[in-house]
Parts: sequence; structure tokens; C-alpha cells
Amino acid sequence: MPHKLALIGFGTVAQGLVEILLRKEQELRDRHGMEFVVVAITDPIKGSLYDPSGLDLSAVMNSLESSGSLGQYPKSQDTTTGWDSFLTIDQCGADTVIEATYTNVVDGQPGLDHCRAALRSGKNVVTTNKGPIALAFDELQSLAARHGARILFEGTVMSGTPVLRLAATTLVGNEIRKVRGILNGTSNFILSKMDEGMAFDDALGEAQRLGYAEADPTADVDGYDAQYKLQILAHAVFGTRIAREEIARTGIRQITPQQIAQAKTEGRRYKLIAQLENTASGMRGSVAPEALAMDDPLSAIHGAMNAISFDCDLSGDVTVVGPGAGRLETGYALLVDCMNLVRHNV
Ligand code: HSE
Repeated sequence: MPHKLALIGFGTVAQGLVEILLRKEQELRDRHGMEFVVVAITDPIKGSLYDPSGLDLSAVMNSLESSGSLGQYPKSQDTTTGWDSFLTIDQCGADTVIEATYTNVVDGQPGLDHCRAALRSGKNVVTTNKGPIALAFDELQSLAARHGARILFEGTVMSGTPVLRLAATTLVGNEIRKVRGILNGTSNFILSKMDEGMAFDDALGEAQRLGYAEADPTADVDGYDAQYKLQILAHAVFGTRIAREEIARTGIRQITPQQIAQAKTEGRRYKLIAQLENTASGMRGSVAPEALAMDDPLSAIHGAMNAISFDCDLSGDVTVVGPGAGRLETGYALLVDCMNLVRHNV
């Protein structure tokens, strides 16, 4: 039986997933015994399609390329158009809803209500949207449990680089005492470019052009994005919650070219460090620029790359380095969650 997906939001990340499904269709079937069909796609700008027997994904991408929308998709008598996101979630009959709308750092909407609607109707949710998970993790988990569904969100932290599942599975049995990382690609890209002599605004512009930055880059450069990711890590790694205001936050705006040059002469390099520590008096979290010594593994992370170190009581310090954004990378995070849903494990 194919596993039916509905894509809510059809931006870069969901398009990345479609590209992967097209590319890997045969391998997924032959090697993993898995078949995914996309029965619905809905996007407020690009339009909506629903076909209960599955959309032709090549035709979807052709339509997008030729017109920038789903309007050129060759419709059959089984194709329905024009459904909004909530009608799609309600009517699509999918096993899993892929929530890939933009991250809203204020109230998590509309992603949060999409997740609620999907879980209430017994559908699984796979999402890369940080807002709903950071703001309403407990509520969404209990909704999922109550309705016999699951919610997976590997791509919310470091996109397709394994972080959440790594902590939950591979590092299981350790007590993880602290996590420390570079969790925002845009700010790391800017700091790396400033290290090469580029001005802050030019580097930010380039990060925006390359598609790393959030819709509002304030979230990246002022540390809110990393704060959100720490909130998600508090749930996923430590099984606890930390309020956003409890995470001290300083961004990178105030770092001057002079400070960067001075750090260089001292053999140091500025990085925006996000950390979370499980202490006897509760969780302690912070996001702040630090001038790291060159023997710190995080000092060698350049450009939009991300990294995270887990301080484990048994396996010692484990550091994972990898992309934290990108069309295929984040699309892959959606795929890996879908594959794990189908395997019914993690
Ligand atoms: N804007 C984010 C970053 C994208 O720069 O890391 C992934 O969350």
C-alpha cells in the first residue's frame, strides 16, 4: 500500500522533497519496499491540486517551471483544484501531512493550526517548521497520542543533518549533559565572510540571495532562529522545556570588523554559539557570539555549515557537522521522517 502524503506549503523545501521522490522512486520501492504518493499540494500563491490516486510529480514540476504555479498541471476528471490548506488537510485522505509553510516566530501560525488540524484528524505530521514545535511541543505530542498519530520534525534543527534522531537513538544510554553548536547558517555565513573582509550588509545580502536566510533575516542575525532551535533541542534531547525568554540572546549585529580583526591576531574566530546545559537547578540556555580558540572544533565550521557537539557521559564529546539549510538537504529531512514513519520505529 502506498503511503499517501499531502504537502501543505509548496516552497523550496517541499519542492526539494518532490525532487527527491522523483529521483529516488525506484530505489525506495526496490531497496526499502516503500512507495510514497503525493495526493495533494496546496499553497496560497502557487495554487492547489488534489487527486486521490496520486499526482503526477513530473507534471507538477513542469507546471512550476513553466508558470511558477500549479496552474499548468494537466488535470483529469479526478483532479480537484482550489482547496485551501485546511480543506486539503480535512479532505485529502493522506496518511501524513507535510507541513512546510514558513516559520512564524511570533505565534507559529499558520503552521501550528495546520499541525493541530492534521493530528486531530488522525494524520501524521512531518514538518520542518520550527514555530509549531518550539511553541507547542507538549500540546502537539499529546494531540498526536490522543489521535493515534505521530509528529516528526528532524528537519527543524540542522535540516537533513542527523541531530534529533541521533540523540534519541544512536547516543541512547548516555546522559547528555550539554549541547553546544552553530545552529544558524546565515549568521555563520556572515561571520565567515566578514572574516574574509566583507561588510556585514553585503554578506547578509549574499546569504539572502543564496536562500539561507529566513523570510525576516532578523531571526537569523539577532539569534531568534538559534533560540527556537534550542527550545526544540530541550524537548528532543533533554525531554524538558525552556521558555524562549529564559534563553539569553545576543545576535551578531554588534560585531565590528575591528573585533574580527583583533580576534584574528589573537588566533581566535567569532562564531554565534548556541548552548543548552542540563544543570541541577534546571536548563540553562544562551545564544551569543564568542571568539573561539582555533582548537575548538566549532571554530573550523565555515560558511552556511552548521555543527553541534553533544557532551555525553559515556561516549564523550560527539560533534556532528553538516548543512543546516538547503532545498535538497531539508527535503531529505522530510524524506527521512517519512521513511521512519513507514518503518514504524523512530
Ligand atoms: N535561516 C536558517 C539558517 C535556515 O540560516 O540556518 C534553517 O533553519
